[in-house]
Amino acid sequence: MKLVKHSYEKELNYLLKHYLEPSEEEKKVLKKIVNEFKKKLEELLEEEVFIGGSYAKNTYLKGKNDVDVFIRFKEEKRMRVLEEKLSVFKNLQVVRGSRTYYRINFKKILFEVVPILKIKSANDFKNITDVSPFHVDFVNKHLTRKQKNEVRLLKAFCKANNLYGAETSVHGFSGYVLELLIAYYGSFLNVLKAISEAKPPLIISFNKSKPINVSVITLIDPVQSKRNASKSVSGEKFSKLQFLAKKFLLDLKYNKSIMKYFKPKKMTIKKLQSLSNKRGTKLFVKKIRIEGDSEKFLSKLNKKLKNIKSRIEAEGYSVYDYAYFLNKNEVIIYFEIETLKLSRMKKHYGPPVSVDLKHFEEFIKKWGENKVYVSENHLCVDVRREELDVLINSLFKNYLT
Ligand code: CTP
Ligand code: MG
Repeated sequence: MKLVKHSYEKELNYLLKHYLEPSEEEKKVLKKIVNEFKKKLEELLEEEVFIGGSYAKNTYLKGKNDVDVFIRFKEEKRMRVLEEKLSVFKNLQVVRGSRTYYRINFKKILFEVVPILKIKSANDFKNITDVSPFHVDFVNKHLTRKQKNEVRLLKAFCKANNLYGAETSVHGFSGYVLELLIAYYGSFLNVLKAISEAKPPLIISFNKSKPINVSVITLIDPVQSKRNASKSVSGEKFSKLQFLAKKFLLDLKYNKSIMKYFKPKKMTIKKLQSLSNKRGTKLFVKKIRIEGDSEKFLSKLNKKLKNIKSRIEAEGYSVYDYAYFLNKNEVIIYFEIETLKLSRMKKHYGPPVSVDLKHFEEFIKKWGENKVYVSENHLCVDVRREELDVLINSLFKNYLT
């Protein structure tokens, strides 16, 4: 076998050029659409229209089809006029939340139009989106053009491995957090080195401010020292990044190709089934459609799955793994259960034997004189354990339909 020596610099450059950095032509086309949309809004509104997000920071990935637009209001109560004025756009979608915002498709680009307060200092914000223009300023001031490409590498790395996004359904790294990491450590490789060496909690501060809200990775927002910009990152997602960073560095050490880290990891039911077969677990899968706002939907789903898991465990079965993944507008939910042979009956405990005679009698009457016995110091009866298939089917039905 011929030993191929991979140069990671060459590979990263190749990725940037062909997959991650928008071409000059693409930038030009997008710019034209953005300017046209901005002009339309300016004709419609009195307030300042601010194009923000990764478009304004030039840290967006090739093929970008959504752009963040902020309308800067002097007073919060004036924001209500926006809905009426934007209704000239036939495909206007209203997303209600702590701060209602709007989605508009214009020439195949999805514009997310967010009303914000025009504030002098980042600390005066009422809603976190008010601070967004300050993020844009910081990134544009502190990152060189080359470093913006390093952001693109880091974004693509996180995206491919399902670590990208601060939403509650992901609990990962937001674009802004990745930008701050590049600003702090200088380059994609330096970020991976730092993450791989970290002993959490990893605390990062640009100006020696003390953290007020420590989490597994605590990144004190340089424009707002009271905010931990990476609070959304869960322990598991941080560990996943650290695991990948370590593997990446090992691959560099042995001159192996690092392209695989950038290939989107897509789960399928087939892959799940084969993994479950190898593990000798029993797999249960349920597909459901996302209804309404997907962020709210998935956040609720997370809670439901936790409930299902504890209900399964309460019945004495052990959950090997459970999660969901997205496939277009569908969510595929799975539970993998360990298939130990369990007894047909399980113990159902009543009050302690020392309970007063009234409650003692109630328990005996409910379950039958001859069935009740003593286990440890409690009254106890044997009840039938729900069969695994029946149990899970009924839980899926109750929680997921
Ligand atoms: N933002 C933030 N914290 C979040 C989510 C959003 O501070 N958890 C702010 C940031 O200022 C960000 C802007 O909202 O720049 C837009 O959010 P989003 O579109 O999620 O991030 P982008 O930086 O635009 O990255 P992407 O390329 O993924 O659109
Ligand atoms: Mg964006």
